[in-house]
Amino acid sequence: MKTLEKRTDIILESSIDTIDKLQKICQLLYDEIDYYNWVGFYFKNGDKDELKLGPYVGAATDHIIIPFGKGICGQVAVSNETFMVQDVNEQDNYLSCSIDTKSEIVVPIFKNGNNIGQIDIDSHKINPFTLDDRTFLENLCEKLGLLL
Ligand code: SME
Repeated sequence: MKTLEKRTDIILESSIDTIDKLQKICQLLYDEIDYYNWVGFYFKNGDKDELKLGPYVGAATDHIIIPFGKGICGQVAVSNETFMVQDVNEQDNYLSCSIDTKSEIVVPIFKNGNNIGQIDIDSHKINPFTLDDRTFLENLCEKLGLLL
């Protein structure tokens, strides 16, 4: 995770557009961590109480817009807390993107204390996420909050 953190730092500090940084981060995490099988960003859609899909890598999803409160992502938009779901079958309030997805972690991004979006990672494995994933992703989202 340390090496990966260095590589995300290099992307964040590069002079490319923000949207390209987000896309490159998705690609890097998708390529480097075998149990990250969909990596993407959702952001608050203007003044609306909904999330809109941003850059992502993985299978196309039907969930371009997610109302606040709906699914794992929509819950994080209102709870302001990381949501680590080790088995999506145990969640009632879950929006399925792919039948292959078994688990998911969503980490909010704060800008000036406001929850502006999140990184969402789906895995094809049950129970894959550790505290290291959580810490790595929370650190990343903290840096993204300063950048966005
Ligand atoms: N599973 C998410 C929806 C987004 S997809 O995973 C890309 C949810 O329950 O909010």
